[in-house]
Formats: sequence, C-alpha cells, structure tokens
Amino acid sequence: MNRIIEPFRIKMVEPIRLTTRAERQQVLQDAHYNLFRVPADSIIIDLLTDSGTGAMSANQWAALMRGDESYAGSLSFQRFEAAVKEIFGFNHVIPTHQGRAAERILAATVCKPGNIVPNNTHFDTTRANIEAVGAVALDLPCPEARDLHKPHDFKGNMDVEALSQVLRRHSGNIPFVMVTVTNNGGGGQPVSMENIREVSHLCRTHGVPLYIDACRFAENAYFIRTRSSKYHDTPLIDIAREMFSYADGCTMSAKKDGMANIGGFLCSNDDTVAQHEEELLILTEGFPTYGGLAGRDLEAIAVGLYEALDLSYQRYRHASTGYLGQRIVELGVPILRPPGGHAIYIDAAAMLPHIPATQYPGQALAVALYLEGGVRTVEIGSVMFGRIDPTTGIETPGPNELVRLAIPRRTYTKSQIDYVIDVVADTARHKQSIRGVKIVEQPPALRHFSARFELV
Ligand code: F0G
Repeated sequence: MNRIIEPFRIKMVEPIRLTTRAERQQVLQDAHYNLFRVPADSIIIDLLTDSGTGAMSANQWAALMRGDESYAGSLSFQRFEAAVKEIFGFNHVIPTHQGRAAERILAATVCKPGNIVPNNTHFDTTRANIEAVGAVALDLPCPEARDLHKPHDFKGNMDVEALSQVLRRHSGNIPFVMVTVTNNGGGGQPVSMENIREVSHLCRTHGVPLYIDACRFAENAYFIRTRSSKYHDTPLIDIAREMFSYADGCTMSAKKDGMANIGGFLCSNDDTVAQHEEELLILTEGFPTYGGLAGRDLEAIAVGLYEALDLSYQRYRHASTGYLGQRIVELGVPILRPPGGHAIYIDAAAMLPHIPATQYPGQALAVALYLEGGVRTVEIGSVMFGRIDPTTGIETPGPNELVRLAIPRRTYTKSQIDYVIDVVADTARHKQSIRGVKIVEQPPALRHFSARFELV
C-alpha cells in the first residue's frame, strides 16, 4: 500500500463561509484588489502563508495547559530550552516572539554599517533587519536556481564558489554567513548536507561564523533523506542535528516547523555574543526565560519541534504539496520546479504572457484565483520586489512574477486541495480574459501589504 494519507484525524473544526462569485467581486472592490486587505471570513481556502496558520496537535494543546507563566525561571522555558538544545545542539537558546525578532537581535548585535552578510537567499525580513543596521544583504543562490523550470534536487544551495570569492575579497568585513533552509525566497527549495558542509568549511577557514535560518529545517531534513542516498535510513532528527552541527548559531520562526501559531528563537555558541543578545532581548522582547512569549507558547513549540520531525508527518506534507504541484503542471500551468516543501509557485509571467510586467501579472493572477474560488495566494513578483528610482520615478520590475500557494501545516484535507486544483483549472481556462492591474496608491516601503490597485 503506497497511498499516503493525512496521519491525523480532526478533533475540532473551524467553519468556512462559502462565498459566491458576486460577493467576492464586491470584496475585491472593497479591498482595492489587495488580498492582504481581505477579511479572513471572506476566504474559502487561505494559502497566503504557511506561517503560524497550521493546526496544533492534541499534545500541543495539552502542553499549553502546563504553561508556567512565571516571569523568571519558568519551567516552560526549561522544557523549551531542552527541546531546542536536543535538536539544534547550540549552547545558548534565546526565545523571541517570532523569527524576525531573532533576526533583529542578531543583526543589531553583530553587524556594523558597511558589513556584508551573504546568504543563499535572504528572506525579506532578514534582508530588512540587516539593511536596517546599515549592512549589505547579499544573495548567492546556486546557478541552478536561475532556471525556474528545470528541476534540480537541491536548488536551494548556496553558490560555494561565489561565497569563496566574497569571503576572500571582503575579509574582515563579514560578521556572519547565513544559509536559509529551505530556501523560501528561492521557491522553498532544499539545501543539501554537502552544501551546508562546504559552506561551513569555507566559513571556518575564514574564521566567519555560520548561522542557519532554520524556519523549515524539518522539511529540509526530509528532502535530504529522500534525495541523498546516504541518508535514506537516517531518522530526521539525526539529519537535523548534523545540519546544525556545521553551524555556530541559528535564527528560527517557530510559526513554521515549530508547528506553533507564534514564537521563535535565536541560538549561538558564542558566550559573549549571547550575553549581548540577552541584554537587547530584555530591552525589547522580555526576560530571557520567556522572550516575548507566554509560557504556554514555549510549551507548544517544545512539543511541535518534535512533531515536525515525525517521518509520517513529513511524508504526508511533501506528498500533499507535491500532489498540488503535479496536478497544476498537468493542467499546463507553469510552476517553479520541482515543487518546494511548503508551497507551489505559479509562474504568472509564463502563464499570462499577454500581461506585461508593468501591469503586475502575479497580482492579476492572485486576484483572479480569489475571484474564481475564494482562494487566497500571495504575489511574489514586481509588486513585492519592484523598485522605484527616487529621482526618476522609473520602476524596475522584480526578478520573477510568481504567485505562491503556501500550504498551512495539517490544516486542509486532500479534497480541499482538489478544490484548489479545480480553481486553478477554471482560472487557466479563461486566462485570456484576465486583466492586468495598476497601483493607484502605495506607501514608500513594503507596498504589497497596503497598496491599492485598480484593474487595467
Ligand atoms: N526566514 C524565513 C525563511 C521566512 O520564511 C520567514 C517568514 C522569516 C524568516 C521570518 O519569520 O514571520 O516569524 O518573523 N516567512 C513567512 C512567509 C512570513 O510567509 O513566508 P517570522
């Protein structure tokens, strides 16, 4: 029997309001065609993000009740710290309210203006926190990542040759190197153990610490297990431990592979750095035994980290994301290949060649998918990454025009994924009639969250 089923049953349900097309038409108008402005009860299937939107297990809910809300010395922190140390293996564990808080504290502690921080691909908050302290966030994805449609086992890898040159050329000016697993900005693609090892070796030769952005570490471990013959029989926890053994620290958003709705942490092996980080933590997040979280949140994460490493869970997770990707490909709709761990990325530029980049094909497709079936996705294209020259006012488009369908963990059933496939199929059928959009109002930064659009 090789059919893979959801390895859980449903104990509590949250009703979905089934809207009509006419209602959605009105919702879109009211939201100025920006899906971030749409209230959740007007969404049928929400694939905006896999961050903090998953379902917790019975064990996590039970653990919540054990939450020790003591300001100092919380027992929940002890359990959280023990879990993080057992899996990640670092000496110092600092809880934060989510991933970006860990990034902010790390950047503020170790980066100086003019420093360079290489990464396979910086997530936007990581980049923003590095740039906020005046340092430069440099993306060094492997060459295979450039071709959206050509499959490769480890498209999330760092370009080791390019990193080696950067480390030589900017010696003394690199506070740390980061590897993001899986590479979200690069399509949720995995990083191989060999690549992490090579990057680590280079960093150690140059005396530069290596940090891992660990958000989707368990999905990455599963990819390593299935795609590297050496690891076919290795438990995911051992793969994860080996990944982190090559690093000096990590940042983590527990809203992903912590299987929790909120939380994160920052780890390091450096006593002095950790001390400075704790000082900053107390200033903005909270005392080091809670760091901006309730004791019960720490409990949920301590349980969730192990659940993310459960083989049957990962098998189902990858089967369900891969199934969505495969079926969309069969519809003749181009996606970034191979499918990532947490999401499918539709190539809107290739799907809608009649819409020029200046009319945001990704945003147009996201709007069309919502109108067709109430499916909320997110544009990862020129709305998110286009840059306007402040003097000329001329806009440079983003590198790609993608629409991400991110799958919340343990949340939607196969029949709901089939519904999403039907919505993509119906949208593709009348794709010629999909119109571009124009921006009529936008803030100077992070415009995708609040911009107002009109149909062209
Ligand atoms: N790093 C990566 C690779 C991420 O994907 C995210 C969040 C963060 C850091 C920041 O974590 O949200 O807890 O502060 N990604 C979400 C997404 C928001 O939709 O991909 P956070």
